[in-house]
Amino acid sequence: MKPVIYVTRKIPDHVLKPYEDSFDVRMWDQEEEPVPRDVLLREVKSADGILCLLTEKVDKELLDAAKHLKVVANMAVGYDNIDVEAAREHGVVVTNTPDVLTETTADLAFALLVAAARRIVEATDYIRKGKWEHWSPYLLAGSDIYGKKIGIVGMGRIGEAVARRAKGFGMSILYHNRSRKESAERELGAAYRGFTGLLQEADFVVSLVPLTDETKKMFDQDAFRNMKPSAVFVNVSRGGAVDEQALYDALVNEEIRTAGLDVFDQEPIAPDHPLMKLDSVICLPHIGSASVDTRTRMLELCLDNLKAVLHGEQPITPVR
Ligand code: DGY
Repeated sequence: MKPVIYVTRKIPDHVLKPYEDSFDVRMWDQEEEPVPRDVLLREVKSADGILCLLTEKVDKELLDAAKHLKVVANMAVGYDNIDVEAAREHGVVVTNTPDVLTETTADLAFALLVAAARRIVEATDYIRKGKWEHWSPYLLAGSDIYGKKIGIVGMGRIGEAVARRAKGFGMSILYHNRSRKESAERELGAAYRGFTGLLQEADFVVSLVPLTDETKKMFDQDAFRNMKPSAVFVNVSRGGAVDEQALYDALVNEEIRTAGLDVFDQEPIAPDHPLMKLDSVICLPHIGSASVDTRTRMLELCLDNLKAVLHGEQPITPVR
């Protein structure tokens, strides 16, 4: 008998096809709507593996309900939606999708940085609203990028990929991380700073930290007050790393200039959320890794991880 996997969102047939001999696939039938919790709790009872997204909470309740579960493949590099400790206690392997999304997510981080600095969205709206009448010297003038300092908080794979882009743009690179990254210092000329030192010195602050107890709301009122009034803040990691009220206050009180956000504390962010009302903020619906090729690679990596574990092999990208 083939192992049973439950896929928590409808994914394309062509992605599943190469795996049809490996599993008996059961799947939630909606592409955009997450699987309701009661359906998930029912489906996991008979599953040997699940392919889930960051919209699903894999917690003790779910792990207790799952009688045969051996592996959870999370379609994301971040795994704060999973109680990894509880999974370990239940003997369930957890895998994520590092590497395959690094460059795509770094592209989006840089796109937000450039768009926020050069007021790209505001400028498009300016034309749409029929406001463009003349060329003028300081019309929609933003901040330069070349020659400025980027401060990357969280120098993992994506951080290094952002640093490579920054180097190409003629920026100097500061970083803060739990441990020093000698390769980034040697190859990219990145300079390590303490958190406060980086905030005080950087023109652009980019958050790439995973969400953990240590990083929860690390960008708080003090952090924004330490930034330059001209600072551009970019977050492409997790919304929970930011105190959104403090960010809002910092923008309104002109303690920082602008922000580019791909992630929020509560997702989806409400269209009438105070941050959405500020011209100085660009908000995106968590699309850091959203290119067709990368999303397909992420799904394939999940399926390869499920296949490996359910066929008695080592997972390719386990969460340790
Ligand atoms: C991740 O991988 O953690 C992203 O947030 C979704 O691509």
